[in-house]
Amino acid sequence: AEVRQEVATGSLPGWDRVEELARAAHARYRDLDDGAVADYIPALADADPALFAVCVAETDGSVHAVGDAGVEFSVQSISKAFVYALVCEQLGHEAVRERVGVNNTGLPFNSVVAVELQQGHPMNPMVNAGALATTALVPGATPQERWEHVREGLSRFAGRELVLDEEVHRSESATNARNQAIARLLQSYGRIDHEPAGVVDVYTRQCALRVDARDIAVMGATLADGGVNPVTRERVVSEDVCRDTLAVLASTGMYERSGDWLFEIGLPAKSGVAGGIVAVAPGKGAIGTFSPRLDAAGNSVRGQRATAYLSRTLGLNLF
Ligand code: DON
Repeated sequence: AEVRQEVATGSLPGWDRVEELARAAHARYRDLDDGAVADYIPALADADPALFAVCVAETDGSVHAVGDAGVEFSVQSISKAFVYALVCEQLGHEAVRERVGVNNTGLPFNSVVAVELQQGHPMNPMVNAGALATTALVPGATPQERWEHVREGLSRFAGRELVLDEEVHRSESATNARNQAIARLLQSYGRIDHEPAGVVDVYTRQCALRVDARDIAVMGATLADGGVNPVTRERVVSEDVCRDTLAVLASTGMYERSGDWLFEIGLPAKSGVAGGIVAVAPGKGAIGTFSPRLDAAGNSVRGQRATAYLSRTLGLNLF
């Protein structure tokens, strides 16, 4: 109520209080223990459910980190947003739109039914089918070359060399029959041109890259900053690609909950099953949160609440 009144009276606490509000967001939701750690990838089940980090990266390069912001976790589906941006940069708006699509499926991220309902069209790059189709478009003659392109590109978004979590990669590779099935299904519809096993491996590797909350905040702030990493000042992708990526995140980044998310929080965002969420405020910066307990759609419970609080108190809602 206190927060709502602040917004209603127009006295936004504003961007000058980012540090203090990030701390407040952490303190408010630290003790919330709803949700459950993902266990369909065995290596993720070992995560400490108490971990919680909140980090805000601004387009002026300043970074405000609270809690377990230096603790690494696998980027998982958050990678989909940045691989999509890299592929759009290479192939352009139309080609990727035609092949992968931009509409919400309304179904869970790993749905096979969604693919069948659209005669093999993956619908959007944020669900597993669309992410596999996107990863299949990464330039490179071999899976090894495509993987290196992805790892190097995501590292430029983060502003540091990202490395593979070998254990998560191994664990998911041993249990990802469903993603292999989705890739085969896409192949049967002519939606991927490479050998499915190699595509799934590059995708599984991109999901197993190690990041912390600060990294995902800086990656998001690069999209907020029109494609220039605000910390390293390196241009990673074009302004047009950022706009396309943020539009897709707004409509599909939180899966079948994307409408609820936009309604409550009003920012393009992407979640991952290890517990990360990045939300982007165009022109201003990004919020990176990490907490492993997830809701039924696979989105971090504390991360959603902390992001909602910061969106309200910083006046970030786009609408
Ligand atoms: O393919 C998978 O199932 C995982 N590598 C990534 C899924 C994910 O992060 C969904 N997110 N909320």
